[in-house]
Amino acid sequence: MSSEKQLREEILERVARLYALRTQNQAFVPGKSKVHYAGRVFDEKEMQAMVDSVLDFWLTLGRRGNRFVSDFLAMTGMKYGLVVNSGSSANLVAVSALCSPNIPRPMVPGDEVITTALAFPTTLNPILQNGLVPVFVDVEEDTYNIDASKLEQALSERTRAVMFAHTLGNPAQMDVIMEFARKYDLYVIEDTCDALDSFYKGKRCGTFGDLSTYSFYAAHHITMGEGGALLTNSPQIYRQALSIRDWGRACYCQTGEENPNGACGHRFDQHFEGLPDGYDHKYVYSNIGYNLKPLDIQCAMGVEQLKKLPEFTKKRKEHFDRLYDGLRKHEAYFVLPRALEGAEPSWFSMPLTVRDGGAFSRKDIVTHLENRGIETRMLFAGNVLRQPAYRHIRHRVSGGLVNTEKVFNGTFFIGVYPGLTDEMLAYVIDTIDQFIAGV
Ligand SMILES: Cc1ncc(COP(=O)(O)O)c(C=O)c1O
Repeated sequence: MSSEKQLREEILERVARLYALRTQNQAFVPGKSKVHYAGRVFDEKEMQAMVDSVLDFWLTLGRRGNRFVSDFLAMTGMKYGLVVNSGSSANLVAVSALCSPNIPRPMVPGDEVITTALAFPTTLNPILQNGLVPVFVDVEEDTYNIDASKLEQALSERTRAVMFAHTLGNPAQMDVIMEFARKYDLYVIEDTCDALDSFYKGKRCGTFGDLSTYSFYAAHHITMGEGGALLTNSPQIYRQALSIRDWGRACYCQTGEENPNGACGHRFDQHFEGLPDGYDHKYVYSNIGYNLKPLDIQCAMGVEQLKKLPEFTKKRKEHFDRLYDGLRKHEAYFVLPRALEGAEPSWFSMPLTVRDGGAFSRKDIVTHLENRGIETRMLFAGNVLRQPAYRHIRHRVSGGLVNTEKVFNGTFFIGVYPGLTDEMLAYVIDTIDQFIAGV
């Protein structure tokens, strides 16, 4: 009779063999094989870690989730973190935590949050879902980021926060944004979902503001399949974020916590106004919350992915540089992306904007590429105010959205993710050269 240890080892060894079998003979055939814009990059380690977690059959968040959070904190140097089931959930928890009545100066409905209309929808949605009013400022046409020079003019008596994404991994102008936020005592939420491992002036994106959020969807810098995280240095914000993620409960014990009296040591000996004496702290609700937890199985994958991040980042940078060098000769046709001085982007992808009034449209080039197996994407919602769901939202626009409109009409992006090969990148450049030669 085998021991559990032996059986597990056998299973994991077979998983590795299955992975090796699947990855045999994956030759790239130009024009036939897809050149994806993004994708998960993994090996047997992720598969083994997930299978091992399934064999534990713990299911809900547990030791692998804790391990992921502690590794993530160690890497970023942040003090508090929690995992959630998506980047969208991370944004929802972040904004909701700043609206919690349990922090000293919560945001309240009608307060304004400065942001951009060039957005992934779920950077904006939590602002609306919490009854706050987005104030849209324009982006820069070549960094695709919030134009920090437009912040002052967007300010009003009701401004409480600035929330934006480091677009496609390109760091926003954090020194100016933080100075503005300090001057007017505003919260800063950095949506770092597309910018894991990007730096601005030597400091990691996601470590400047009050809160930062991350997505581990399969297209992102590292993946858990679906998943996300939120980081902060504030113990108060962390406690409320945790509560909002976990049904709104006041208690911060781990699921299945061994200590019968909970992490706080006071599960049954507290008194809460209006509740029976000694009411179980696990069932005391201090926020109107959600349940946005991921599974431990997802975190098992995340732990392995995080170890690969330095190599992933290196490849993303190399791939971006390769495409940039190959495409700069077409600058008359495309606006090429720009990083600010001092920015070290770990690019999510390579954005290109077809110049106004040129010989071809975005639709022409995108169709050419897609027909030849090269995946493209639009820059998310483009100008979100034009999207059907957002036409009637309460909002303010400050100073016009000229560049946002340019991006909406002319920008698309192609991949730089670590799963691409030299051969694929050469094919992408050739295919664009071919297109330009024909215009
Ligand atoms: C900037 C940004 N924020 C938030 C999200 C949402 O992340 P998720 O898909 O994990 O919900 C995305 C998704 O790609 C994103 O690009």
